[in-house]
Amino acid sequence: MKKTYLETVDSTNEYIKRNADTFCDGDYVYTFSQSAGKGRRGRQWESNKKGLALSIFVNDKRNAQTVPLASAEAVRCVLEKHMKIPLKIKWPNDILANNKKLCGILCEGTKDGYIIGIGINISQEKADFVEVNLPYATSILMETEKIIDREKLTRKIAKEVVKNLNMKESKLIDKFTENCITIGQKIKVISVNEEYEAFAVGIDKNGGLKIQTETDIKTVISGEVSVRGIYGYGE
Ligand code: BTN
Repeated sequence: MKKTYLETVDSTNEYIKRNADTFCDGDYVYTFSQSAGKGRRGRQWESNKKGLALSIFVNDKRNAQTVPLASAEAVRCVLEKHMKIPLKIKWPNDILANNKKLCGILCEGTKDGYIIGIGINISQEKADFVEVNLPYATSILMETEKIIDREKLTRKIAKEVVKNLNMKESKLIDKFTENCITIGQKIKVISVNEEYEAFAVGIDKNGGLKIQTETDIKTVISGEVSVRGIYGYGE
């Protein structure tokens, strides 16, 4: 597990893409300052020196659908131990504290494997999120009133992500399901062409979300749709 710290970079995911030949399975890069952090669905990820941006390279032995779930459960578990408050996952891979977003994950495929990009809000205060119009965001500081050792956290997360990626998939799905706030909720499903309400009933063996609509039960996958809670961000 080679680690690379960068004082600043455009995006840690992009850095791995540019230097892919030098990255082996489990190697990671991290920074506290990204100038062009990327979020899911083409959005930008706010990185104002108060967060942690970590990208881990993994080779291609894994199932693309379950990589985001394995990563989210690993980060959730490390953060929960540290923060000592219950944390949940909004399918497929947002980590929530008190129903607000604490961490986002962007998994991208490369020709040899995956890049798992993890953005964690560490020391932002409420005003930082108000300024950038992110009412559903929170940070470790806001939830615990504590400053944490980001280096130590980075090491623990990188290790746990690799561990989870090697876990038996059925066990991983069970663990994920246990901690997923989306299940049992009425949700709004948003795809490029349509938006509709449904009831989230479970996670299938490939990591897809099983939903009950007015007319049928089906599975949606994370590359194709995003979901919102009806009453708040996660539920
Ligand atoms: C999301 O919730 O939209 C996903 C956010 C992912 C942000 C992380 S920060 C580290 C890595 N580098 C990036 O440019 N994006 C991911």
